[in-house]
Amino acid sequence: MLQVDGLNPEPEKIKEAADVLRQGGTVAFPTETVYGLGANACDTLAVEAIFEAKGRPSDNPLIVHISDLAQLDAFAPAYGESEKLLMERFWPGPLTLVLPLLAGTLSDRVTAGLDTVAVRMPSHPVALALIAAAGCPIAAPSANSSGRPSPTEAAHVLDDLDGRIDAVADGGPSGVGLESTVIEVEAAGTVRILRPGGITAESMREAGLQVEYDQAAAPQQSGWDAGAERFSRGTEGTGPDKPGSGWAPRSPGMKYAHYAPRGTMQLVEGEIDNIVSFVNDQVKDAQARGECTGVLAFHEHAAGFEADHVLVIGSLAHLEQAAQGLYAALRAFDSLGVDRIWAQTCPEAGIGHALMNRLAKAAAHRIIRL
Ligand code: TXA
Ligand code: MG
Repeated sequence: MLQVDGLNPEPEKIKEAADVLRQGGTVAFPTETVYGLGANACDTLAVEAIFEAKGRPSDNPLIVHISDLAQLDAFAPAYGESEKLLMERFWPGPLTLVLPLLAGTLSDRVTAGLDTVAVRMPSHPVALALIAAAGCPIAAPSANSSGRPSPTEAAHVLDDLDGRIDAVADGGPSGVGLESTVIEVEAAGTVRILRPGGITAESMREAGLQVEYDQAAAPQQSGWDAGAERFSRGTEGTGPDKPGSGWAPRSPGMKYAHYAPRGTMQLVEGEIDNIVSFVNDQVKDAQARGECTGVLAFHEHAAGFEADHVLVIGSLAHLEQAAQGLYAALRAFDSLGVDRIWAQTCPEAGIGHALMNRLAKAAAHRIIRL
């Protein structure tokens, strides 16, 4: 583990980590969203080591990270004005663009054989310095074991991957706490969100773009956005994550049951008084069965819940904070040995959209509407 100053990374430490990447190794490093597990995107053996360490299905392509726009010329030179606008406006930052791939440039393992590549320029000083020092595009998924919550601290990376990767650069906690927004430009001026994240639909609309949603990225709640296409969410346990539903997301990773704590989680939506009494009744029943219970609550309402472990994710008034704390809370339920978790929901404005997307995935789309 390499302790690096998160704001002003020490050049000698960056060089040490970059050397590992240049020699075909894997390095976990902080980004402003979550920690990534990086390898040289042109080196197939190095990229295979990422899949191996994470236990990641090989049909799920990786995001390629760059530190300089000029790097795109080598592997994704053909993109339009809307992409250019998005890059100028939101890079460096938590936005991933799916671009046409220049065939034969990156390792096929990065793109899982697709003719597109997902690219982002992270804004974290350690990530930028490391990519620049490595001198090559860096393929980096989140640095967790496949299926576990993404890591927002170096300690989370070690919990999952210690002994399976070559180095970890610890630059302190990541900022946003949720992964980047993944988009593709559908037609000039129209963006399709494949995975909601740190860059919100609102901010892309402010940049003059139309925003649509892939089914896997659509908001969960009704009545949230009159302009967008709706789809039926089905009942408990059904939804885009369910295998065999015949539905394929544009972003392959969205079909996997991600972000899940080990305990069974449900989201509960409705009037707060109803939520509190419903959850407390369920908690009693579960405790009577000998189960360890947990509630993921917002600060405003936490005191009303009577579970064995009530974890506060943040305030409803500051959803950015809640986003930062989500994955650490899901991991904490695991270390506390919680069997059953009930979680509050939040409005899907701004970062709340990405937060609800991750909550719903963690709960395998079990949403109880009271
Ligand atoms: O914030 C982030 O994006 C973090 C940090 C480390 O940058 N990375 C991350 O990577 O979340 P990962 O591998 O956990 O998620 C990548 C997502 C997956 O859903 C994957 O299917 C999608 O991006 N993706 C990758 N290449 C794609 C492509 N060519 N077309 C559509 N989706 C793609
Ligand atoms: Mg991931």
